[in-house]
Amino acid sequence: MYALFFRWVILRMNTERAHHVAVAAFRWGWPLVAVARWLRVMPPAPASAAVEALGTVFPGPLGLAAGLDKNAVAVKGLWLAGFSHVEVGTVTPKPQPGNEQPRAWRELDVRGLRNRMGFNNEGADAAARRLAKLRASAVGRSALVGVNIGKNKSTSAEDAPLDYGYCARVLAPYADYLVVNVSSPNTPGLRDLQSVAALRPILEHARAGAVEAVEGRKVPLLVKIAPDLADDDIDAVADLALELGLDGIVATNTTIGHERGPGGLSGPPLLSRSVDVIARLRVRLGADMCLIGVGGVTTADDARALLDAGATLVQGYTALVYEGPLWPSRINRRLAMR
Ligand code: FNR
Repeated sequence: MYALFFRWVILRMNTERAHHVAVAAFRWGWPLVAVARWLRVMPPAPASAAVEALGTVFPGPLGLAAGLDKNAVAVKGLWLAGFSHVEVGTVTPKPQPGNEQPRAWRELDVRGLRNRMGFNNEGADAAARRLAKLRASAVGRSALVGVNIGKNKSTSAEDAPLDYGYCARVLAPYADYLVVNVSSPNTPGLRDLQSVAALRPILEHARAGAVEAVEGRKVPLLVKIAPDLADDDIDAVADLALELGLDGIVATNTTIGHERGPGGLSGPPLLSRSVDVIARLRVRLGADMCLIGVGGVTTADDARALLDAGATLVQGYTALVYEGPLWPSRINRRLAMR
């Protein structure tokens, strides 16, 4: 059914327009999703799928990766569709338009996407207002929401820690966890911030911002890394995470290791690298650190490969586009069966 809809409706829209339509569907259609959940068209995962991590209980392993709901407008619909958590963002301190269009493409031969969006978003204050409203409702309070934060394009590398600190301060009160994103390939120089020297003050500012803003609850702090880091650099980030007492690492973002044109590639071509990165991190970090595996998850077996490599939770984005709205509930239920 969704395959037909994809072929006859979605493929007739350009990629970015289809993205906006999908976000609007989850935003305004959440009551419909709630009914579908109640009718068990997209049932919640059974209790056996639950995962304890980051000081809370996730109803299943599979959550939504950052980038789909950049402005935190559609959390209710996405949560009710069966994602065990919804990571919103990337949010930057000030609103910014992102790169010029076109900036998102389908790579149909590999069921992938390629994008160079460049953190188009309405800014931290707008996201905070939306999340405050979300948290005022019962469904919104029950949702597990990660907030992925970044820096504005116009902010220099030296001032980057201030951007991350600001976002953490404004958004931590509404977040179940925060992710410092230093791995998008679409903001010039951003990935250089993955070097330990640059990353340390960023993480320190982010943590200070969260601690200042939220009393009586520790907001877990994670960092999201690129699949294109050399293994030594992955080890260096892992060591820094241990040294600073970070709560976890999200691996990985999109890859620039392809020859398809500008932007980062997502979807199935990423899976083997994300599995390798997770496995490497798990060995380096020991059993306790939370690892969120992301990159190329389409089937329950893909998710299982990341979990077997050491991921605590997994996320997906591209497969939602190709598989449709029943996908998250289906994968979380299949993961529970094993
Ligand atoms: C992304 N991704 C992303 N990641 C992030 O940390 N901040 C962001 O703003 C975005 N934006 C974004 C836009 C688009 C169009 C795509 C396809 C992806 C990366 C995403 O969260 C994830 O790490 C990768 O897409 C790999 O997972 P999948 O898509 O293979 O499941």
